Amino acid sequence: MKEKELVINYVEYDSMDEMPAAERELMEQAMKATATAYAPYSRFHVGAAVRLADGTVVTGSNQENIAYPSGLCAERVALFSASAQKPDQAVEMLAVVGYTEGEYCEASPCGACRQVMAEYESRYANTITVLCYLSGGRIRRITGVKSLLPFGFDAEL
Ligand code: THU
Repeated sequence: MKEKELVINYVEYDSMDEMPAAERELMEQAMKATATAYAPYSRFHVGAAVRLADGTVVTGSNQENIAYPSGLCAERVALFSASAQKPDQAVEMLAVVGYTEGEYCEASPCGACRQVMAEYESRYANTITVLCYLSGGRIRRITGVKSLLPFGFDAEL
């Protein structure tokens, strides 16, 4: 028997001003995308922006449905759309932000979105950087989905 420890490294910026331009611009695209959310049930608008290896940015927003589980998170709308449009381009970075009651707010990918990100990492054999908007305008940057979903499911089928 061995006791083991898992360490998760991440960066926290105090504000968007501290971010390198490429990261800040992606977060700004995610912020813009909150305006396209269809969220009449939760009233929680989420925007996501994905940057691909060739520099293309694909945005997404949460799309809800009266049959609640039929809706989809902003992150998966962006990732699936990116993959459908540019299936040969690796996903390099994803930014996500919430918007409710007139203000941007914290959003962190749910478990199902983390599982989908993990598969794009293995599909393209590259690490995805994830930017999450946090309360007070801080930003969390995590590199590698393994830090978001340790011991996630994978199988050789
Ligand atoms: N949601 C996202 O789109 N992304 C997240 O990271 C968290 C949750 C959506 C799902 C639902 O439409 C609404 O936010 C409230 O949960």
